[in-house]
This record gives sequence, structure tokens and C-alpha cells, in this order.
Amino acid sequence: MTTIARIALGKNGPLVSKLGLGCMRMSSVWGSPVQDEGESIATIQMALDNGINFLNTGDFYGSGHNELLVGKAIKGRRDDAFISVKFGAIFHGGQWLGLDLRPIAIKNFINYSLVRLGVETIDLYQPCRLDNSVPLEDVIGTVADLIKEGKVRYLGVSEINAEQLRKVHRIHPVTALEIGYSLAERGIEKDLLPTAKELGVGIVAFANTAEGLLTGEMKAPLAVNAYQNHFPRFQGENLIKNLEKVEVLKKMAKGKGYTPTQLAIAWVNAQGNDIMPLVSMSRRSRLPENIQAMEIVFTPEERNTLNTNFSPGSIAGGTYLQR
Ligand SMILES: NC(=O)c1ccc[n+]([C@@H]2O[C@H](COP(=O)([O-])OP(=O)(O)OC[C@H]3O[C@@H](n4cnc5c(N)ncnc54)[C@H](OP(=O)(O)O)[C@@H]3O)[C@@H](O)[C@H]2O)c1
Repeated sequence: MTTIARIALGKNGPLVSKLGLGCMRMSSVWGSPVQDEGESIATIQMALDNGINFLNTGDFYGSGHNELLVGKAIKGRRDDAFISVKFGAIFHGGQWLGLDLRPIAIKNFINYSLVRLGVETIDLYQPCRLDNSVPLEDVIGTVADLIKEGKVRYLGVSEINAEQLRKVHRIHPVTALEIGYSLAERGIEKDLLPTAKELGVGIVAFANTAEGLLTGEMKAPLAVNAYQNHFPRFQGENLIKNLEKVEVLKKMAKGKGYTPTQLAIAWVNAQGNDIMPLVSMSRRSRLPENIQAMEIVFTPEERNTLNTNFSPGSIAGGTYLQR
């Protein structure tokens, strides 16, 4: 299999794999089914065996189930993994209820996370979102205190805007920004991406397949029980138009001898050495395909075709990730 390169996460930051493993979909989030636990653990271990050390989880993914899985997978091999954890989201019955970013809550969250993961330190710790319920200084200051205590190594942020990123970075250096980014979701290119680059913040880019749109496997209309039906992007005329755009990706993939998903990951990967594609995989069979995507190189013509066809804003309708 392709050797996975290492990159510095942020300016002078820790070395991590250029491809990250998103663990979220192994657990039940937003009411989705829990995947086979043995297969999920085997997937994490196979990723580690193949040099993917960046593992992404959140304490609210499956109400702690996801951290328990990661903990089982890394048992006895802690040093092979770089663990990224999000905190602050309150879920009940599969429903998002809001955020709890109070310092007292964060200090409580981390202790539970450390026990579930079976580790003494979390490598990257980040509020999953920010709001105005708690002063920013208190939220970030609490993570800075955890870094001093040795419970956390680096500060990350997730799904914030350029202005918030600057504010957080002034309080404590930010190592990484976790953000949705794909051919179908290029909103960050205007302000957020240049700001992150200027500040030396690494980009952990998720939703590379845009909720499956770019896999080339979707057909209109979606199955009635598909969770994507909630998002305007996957409804009626929007979906038909968006799938026409995906035909360009499918054609290019066929011509190059790869799958559309591989090209979607490769496009994110090609956006810079400071950008990590973070890809969900809950079965081992995904790994060879997605690892191979990291070797794909686009010609200038191919880049131009993709950038033009998927120009910012060209995909009709939003998702919950729309900023
Ligand atoms: N910060 C945030 O707000 C936030 C939000 C969402 C996600 N995340 C993180 O980012 C990670 C990735 O995000 P995501 O799950 O939204 O997007 P994604 O990586 O695009 O994954 C979406 C789906 O694509 C499937 N897939 C993977 N490889 C494939 C392939 N080669 N062919 C066809 N399908 C393939 C996966 O299926 P299987 O599960 O069946 O393998 C997964 O369910 C998550 O695991 C999570 O850790 C963060």
C-alpha cells in the first residue's frame, strides 16, 4: 500500500499522518446505527498499521461509545496514535441540545474522556463549536490550563469563522482547525483558509465526500430513510443538478483508473501540505482505496476542470455544515 506521508500539524506543530481517520460514523450520532464494533476496532488498528496515526473522535460521538472504541483499539500501542477529541456538544436521544462550554464542564468532560480512552493525555483537544454563552477567554483559558496540567498537548478548534480563529489564536496558539472542505463545499477558501495559513494553523478537512455526494454512488431520489434527505442539497431539483456535476468527477475518475471518492479525497489532499483529509471509514475494506487516493496527482488541465465544474457555490442547496 502507499506509504502515508507525515506533515507538521500547524506551524512547528506535531508530526501527524497526511491522511486522518474519522471515527464518528462507527458510533451512533444523529440517530445513525452503530457499526460492527469488532470491525471498527480492526479498522482503527489497520489504519495505525499503515501509518495513519491521526484518529478523530468526540466525547459526544455515541455518548462516549466512540472514545471507548478508540481506547480499545489503541490499547498497548498508545504511541502509535495521535488522538484528537472534540468536546462541548450536548446530545440526548440522538438530538443536538446545544453546547456546554463552562470551564467546570470542560474540566469534567476531560476526565471522562481520559478514562474512556485509557490514556493520560489527549493530543489535540477542541471545542466542537463556539457560542457566546461563555467568554472565549474562559473556554480557551480552560484548555490552556489543561495543557499546563499535562492532560492535553495541543489546542484545536472546529467549525469556526476567520474572526473567531484570530480571537482564539490571540488567547492561545491554535494548532489545528477542523472544518468541512471538499469540491462541493469550498466556502472556507475566501476568508478562513487564508487566515489559517497566515496564522500557521493546520487544516483538518472533513466531509471530503460531501455526505456521500461525491462518491458517485448516489442516485436521485434517495431512499426515503436516507439521512441526507433533511438537507436541501439532496432534495428534488437540487439533487438532480448536483448529480450532473458529479458526472464530471465520475468521468475523470474512470479515465484515470480511480474511483470518484479517491479523486474527491485527492483534491482535498492536493490543496496543500498544511491540509489533512480526514476521512470516515468504519470498515477495513475502505482503507486500501482511500490510502491509494493519497498518491493521485492531477494535471493542470484536470485541476482546472474540477475547480471550474465545482467552483465555490456551484453545488445547489446547503447542508447543516453551510456557514
Ligand atoms: N468538526 C465537525 O463538526 C465534524 C463534523 C462531521 C464530521 N467530523 C469528523 O470528520 C470525519 C469525516 O467526516 P464525514 O464522516 O462527515 O465525511 P466522509 O469522510 O466524507 O465520510 C462519509 C462516508 O463516506 C464513506 N466512505 C469512506 N470511504 C469511502 C469510499 N472509498 N467509497 C465510498 N464511501 C466511502 C464512509 O462510509 P463507512 O462509514 O461505511 O466506511 C462514511 O460514512 C468524521 O468521522 C468525524 O470524525 C467532524
